[in-house]
Amino acid sequence: MAFDALINDGMVSDSNFIVDIAVKEHGEVFQGLSSMVDVGGGLAAAVQAISKAFPEVKCSVLDLGHIVAKAPSGTLVEYVAGDMFESVPPANAILLKWVPHDWGDEKCIKILKNCRKAIPSRDIGGKVIIIDIVFGEGPSDQKHRELQALFDLYITFINGIQRDEQEWKKVFFAAGFSGYNIMPVLGFRSIIEVYP
Ligand SMILES: C[S@@+](CC[C@H](N)C(=O)[O-])C[C@H]1O[C@@H](n2cnc3c(N)ncnc32)[C@H](O)[C@@H]1O
Repeated sequence: MAFDALINDGMVSDSNFIVDIAVKEHGEVFQGLSSMVDVGGGLAAAVQAISKAFPEVKCSVLDLGHIVAKAPSGTLVEYVAGDMFESVPPANAILLKWVPHDWGDEKCIKILKNCRKAIPSRDIGGKVIIIDIVFGEGPSDQKHRELQALFDLYITFINGIQRDEQEWKKVFFAAGFSGYNIMPVLGFRSIIEVYP
């Protein structure tokens, strides 16, 4: 219980930090969207920050029932309890932050396929927005290499997988997407737009 609370608090702080930078440096990613679902969005810190910067975007979060039960009330964000391996609510864009790296390729492709079903075609702005690590992006000095090794250790501990561009490309195309664009924001932490 205490560990869960610690993880959730850490995720909220991380979201406030990285989304602030993402919005400042790549605001165009969120501009013009009508709706967005943050899949596996936890307590919704990421979409709260996006919603503050882009109030016209109708934001929701999909997460497991026991997480949604802890959601704060009185926010503009709608919380939906569900399972991303079953289905994802429809929206103009789907956000996945710190989610694909929790899962091996087979499960990651399943999540991405459900996201693809939830969005409209590319020509009317449908996309998946991923905020995650792309190994090999950003600076490659000693400090960043050490940080990369640390993240690799952590993700191995939780049975996840860190991907470089080729490994991301493989899961995107296997899930039926037609293209992607990687924008590094903080070292190897990047925004990836993925197009149906
Ligand atoms: C590493 S956390 C990321 C949370 C949030 N995106 C962030 O960056 O702060 C992974 C999230 O995925 C959620 N999750 C795990 N399995 C899920 C499922 N089958 N359906 C929906 N959400 C799920 C977890 O409850 C958790 O909130």
